[in-house]
Amino acid sequence: MLLIKNIGRLLGVQPREVVCLRGADLDRLDSIENAWLLVDDEGLIASFGRMDTCPDCQGETYDADGRMVSPAFVDSHTHLVYAGSREGEFLDKINGLSYSEIAARGGGILNSAARLNATSEDELFGQSAARLRQVASMGTCAIEIKSGYALTLEGELKMLRVIRRLADAFPEMIIKSTFLGAHAVPLQYKSDPEKYVDHIINDMLPAVAAENLADFVDAFCEIGFFTPEQTLRIFEAARAYGLTPRLHADQLHCCRGSETAIAANAISADHLESIGEEQVQLLAASDVICTALPGASFFLSEPYAPARAMVKAGCAVAIASDYNPGTSPSGSMKFVWSLGCIKLRLTPAEAFNAITVNTAAALGISDKCGSITPGKYASLIFYDRSVPSLEYIPYAYTQDTIERAMLKGVWK
Ligand code: NIG
Ligand code: FE
Repeated sequence: MLLIKNIGRLLGVQPREVVCLRGADLDRLDSIENAWLLVDDEGLIASFGRMDTCPDCQGETYDADGRMVSPAFVDSHTHLVYAGSREGEFLDKINGLSYSEIAARGGGILNSAARLNATSEDELFGQSAARLRQVASMGTCAIEIKSGYALTLEGELKMLRVIRRLADAFPEMIIKSTFLGAHAVPLQYKSDPEKYVDHIINDMLPAVAAENLADFVDAFCEIGFFTPEQTLRIFEAARAYGLTPRLHADQLHCCRGSETAIAANAISADHLESIGEEQVQLLAASDVICTALPGASFFLSEPYAPARAMVKAGCAVAIASDYNPGTSPSGSMKFVWSLGCIKLRLTPAEAFNAITVNTAAALGISDKCGSITPGKYASLIFYDRSVPSLEYIPYAYTQDTIERAMLKGVWK
């Protein structure tokens, strides 16, 4: 048992598990001033309360000395396993090329794929573990990681095996893996993309399922990448192996991505930068979680998802990092929290729920993390003693306000 006492403010308290927050509820962030929290030997939250009810503890005690404490971040969309970096394209962008133009020249995802296929599994694991260690120290307790930077059978399996090794090496985190073979069409299939879709369905999916390497399936449904029909064909086949769909939808163009996510009963539709009012209404009426990725809009200087309108319409809005070398080379969820406020125009409380409660729902792990609830993991962020309020954290967007993270009861 570990008793944490003298917490200045314990944020994100939910006596009972809430799956997903919509509408006005997204702005509700309950807290306890001057609190204690008891962690059991499995690293789970046993109980918590106000200091005037603080129990005697036989085990270890930690004095938070007035620090603010919140649940740790849940990042439901990343491409954290990749080889090398793409700062060359960063220069191309500064010199005026768009993301689509760089991709059409064989850059972008295909550039990362060439590098990854030439990198050994051990080297890939080493690079990825360093990134994961860093995001864990910045307060991320649960993370989704995709394949999709190989686009070959062996390479995709290599990526997914690396994700599995990361899960074994970081037991204090929750790691979910997604098969994204449909991330881009490899050059040799450009004249007949249907053949690549067949390859995904007939060769890749059975191999991924045989080793039980993925929880989810994803596709980049976009002009020049995969059509809604191809996406649905892949998702239908993946369902038969027990993989739940999630989708890169309507990022660069409004091209039936949202409708495809709804038709496939996807757990989440991600990006949504280019959706219109009609798609907002359709998503609001569905169970699909709408995940904005403002880090990609920021890095590419492209439009942001209409998150304010989505909340108003009743969509289940989540926000994740999209950590990847091409469109969002950062896994800082604290920065994502700031972008949620500054660029998506959500309140600090709404944006915080969107990167915790709602991203946990988008990964199907609402029973394990995302709030201060008995029975969930004691995965917590301890903020600097100088932090005066909740609002200050996303406001001071370059200040190192996170002092320390605890994941499943273990200090990082
Ligand atoms: O989520 N949009 C598709 N996939 C990634 C970017 C991949 C890349 O450029 O490497 C994204 O933004
Ligand atoms: Fe992505």
